[in-house]
Amino acid sequence: MREVVVSLSEGRAYKVLVDASLFSWSDWLCGVSFPSFCGVILTNDRVGELYAPRVQEFFAHCGYSVHVVTIPDGEEYKNLRVVEEVYHKLLALGLDRKSFLLTLGGGVVTDLGGFVASTFLRGIAYYQIPTSLLAQVDSSIGGKTGVNLEEGKNLVGTFYQPLGVFIDLSFLDTLPEREYREGLAEVVKTALLEGEEFVDFLRIHKEKIVEREKGILEEMVTRAITYKKRVVEEDEKEKGLRSVLNYGHTIGHALERATGYGVLRHGEAVSVGMRGEALLALRIGISTERVYRLQEDVLKEFGLPLRVSQRVEIAEFLSALRKDKKKEGGRIRFTLLERPGKPLLGIEVEEEMVLEILPEICEVQQ
Ligand SMILES: NC(=O)c1ccc[n+]([C@@H]2O[C@H](COP(=O)([O-])OP(=O)(O)OC[C@H]3O[C@@H](n4cnc5c(N)ncnc54)[C@H](O)[C@@H]3O)[C@@H](O)[C@H]2O)c1
Ligand SMILES: [Zn+2]
Repeated sequence: MREVVVSLSEGRAYKVLVDASLFSWSDWLCGVSFPSFCGVILTNDRVGELYAPRVQEFFAHCGYSVHVVTIPDGEEYKNLRVVEEVYHKLLALGLDRKSFLLTLGGGVVTDLGGFVASTFLRGIAYYQIPTSLLAQVDSSIGGKTGVNLEEGKNLVGTFYQPLGVFIDLSFLDTLPEREYREGLAEVVKTALLEGEEFVDFLRIHKEKIVEREKGILEEMVTRAITYKKRVVEEDEKEKGLRSVLNYGHTIGHALERATGYGVLRHGEAVSVGMRGEALLALRIGISTERVYRLQEDVLKEFGLPLRVSQRVEIAEFLSALRKDKKKEGGRIRFTLLERPGKPLLGIEVEEEMVLEILPEICEVQQ
């Protein structure tokens, strides 16, 4: 088992535990303190069917009484209506302020669950049990919770840290291939931000990673989490440094919006977004052909998209790009990569230049 401690201000800290099969042995649970013996597993119908009984039995074995509350599977259910339904269910189960929430699922469940925990009875304890690769390396670490509005994704949310994150890599065995790959896009992003050694690690162990070999995944997931933890520790509330994690996301988010949510998976959009942003870095002259090729090779090796096959309307892309929180004046702010391990924050790029590289990453429609 690997352990990463996230240390925050005012002495707050929590452990992230990573293991090939965390929920098949229980000694570790003794080292975790829960506020009471009563909690709820919040999950969705798909993941719940697969893993809720196991997690429930596991906690029962250690003396905890945990109920299961299920929401429907899908990003379209990450909304306030579902949040309200969950509040009602928690009340019906008699939860009080000492009770705790265990979120069991991908990023949708961990984001929505974190939001519920941060607001229910003005905040109860919660622990993340992320089951998708994306949630394990990204969304369950860092305390950003949230739900979507009709106007856009993650427009309502809180910063609310979990008290523990429990990662069982065997849960990834049932994750569909497309979802697994998109998680790898975030891992590649993290490796590029961290440095060439992490990038080399991914390339050397490519086969085992693609085959989901647990020993290598333990190392890979722990490294990705360790990077994110360092960033979160320095900038818990995204005042500055944390925007480093947005590499590939400014163009990625715009593509996600412009193609219509649900067409591209988030990680796919980030992969294409990283390519677009690497092209920008090259044009501006802050990066080199070698760095650009290295990134392209890694993305290709993991079967990640370099281009979107859908048609993208310029007007929609632009309006999506401008909606992104990184906009300043008429220019767009990016995190760009000079080389692996050397991201540059807040680089302002003219919209025109972004439009120039657009045909390289999608089918442009006037
Ligand atoms: N809070 C943050 O910092 C942060 C960061 C990145 C992304 N996010 C959010 O995360 C969400 C995306 O997360 P996601 O990609 O995990 O999507 P998701 O939660 O929709 O999961 C993807 C699919 O895989 C299924 N699934 C998950 N684990 C499984 C398993 N072990 N076996 C079988 N099926 C499984 C889910 O039910 C779902 O159908 C978005 O809403 C995004 O906004 C949040
Ligand atoms: Zn992302």
